[in-house]
Amino acid sequence: MQHLLSLFDITVNNLHEILATASHLKRRLQMGDRPPVLERRVIALLFEKPSLRTRVSFETGMAQLGGSSLFLGEEVGWGKRESPSDFTHVLGQFVDAVVCRTKKHERATQLAQFNALPVINGLTDLCHPCQALADILTIQEAFGTEKDKHLVFVGDGNNVSGSLALICAMLKMKFTLACPASYELNPEWLNQIHQHYPQAMIEQTSNVDAAVSTADAIYTDVWTSMGQEEESAIRRRAFANFQVNRQLMSKAPSHARVLHCLPAVRGEEITDEVIDSPQSDVISQAGNRMHAQKGLLVWLLNHQWVKENV
Ligand code: CP
Ligand code: NVA
Repeated sequence: MQHLLSLFDITVNNLHEILATASHLKRRLQMGDRPPVLERRVIALLFEKPSLRTRVSFETGMAQLGGSSLFLGEEVGWGKRESPSDFTHVLGQFVDAVVCRTKKHERATQLAQFNALPVINGLTDLCHPCQALADILTIQEAFGTEKDKHLVFVGDGNNVSGSLALICAMLKMKFTLACPASYELNPEWLNQIHQHYPQAMIEQTSNVDAAVSTADAIYTDVWTSMGQEEESAIRRRAFANFQVNRQLMSKAPSHARVLHCLPAVRGEEITDEVIDSPQSDVISQAGNRMHAQKGLLVWLLNHQWVKENV
């Protein structure tokens, strides 16, 4: 059964198909066309952490495709009222796929292990594959292609930057993480990327000025992710020199785009001036969450349509 726990679950060809489906459906939507490709299909959203973009974009995307979605919060008692096996097999009788957002990545893996229904990762502590899909769509729209582009992530080696490092390796893009020492990418994750994609061009450096000097896109995310709140004071000190501000932007090529997965802590990892500047694509990037996920859902649940239409 096909899951999307991480981008390791799909091939480079699959990735191109998903992105092409997303662009196709986006173009059609812009012309007022909402083909009911997933008519009467239902997905569940099983979330242990808050969300605006992921939740709303999956729900509206599914509605636009003629299907529907169910938001499942704490009250369904996942991991509390019954065994994981009973929970997952029962859910699989009712819905076509589940999108989960979990505190621990293992919880998402556990859902998928029963192969009772396709599981899509809507963010875990380890990775955020749906975000990376939308980010590449945004880069393609800005430059016409992602080919040969250099993505520089200024900030934490977290779930978002980890997924970007992987998607860049898949697409032969150069990826640099500019971060303070000891906030690099998870070494196991990085090894896995190099094993799957030996040509991966991934660098990690604390020299942020040098990193951005060849950037086509400069990306940042919060210094303190959900679940790390106790570390926020330490992190604020550690990342103090890694703010995306006007001074840093002056070191980057003038064509460089600014990206952020949002939500942002304005004044910490990025200044108002930069996030609201003409170089910033953050609002359309957030909008692309829906388009990218529509591509993913159709690719996953109606592959025949992709073969015939995209
Ligand atoms: N970027 C992102 O995943 O946003 P939400 O946490 O609001 O879903
Ligand atoms: N790294 C952030 C991303 C939020 C979309 C977090 O995990 O909180």
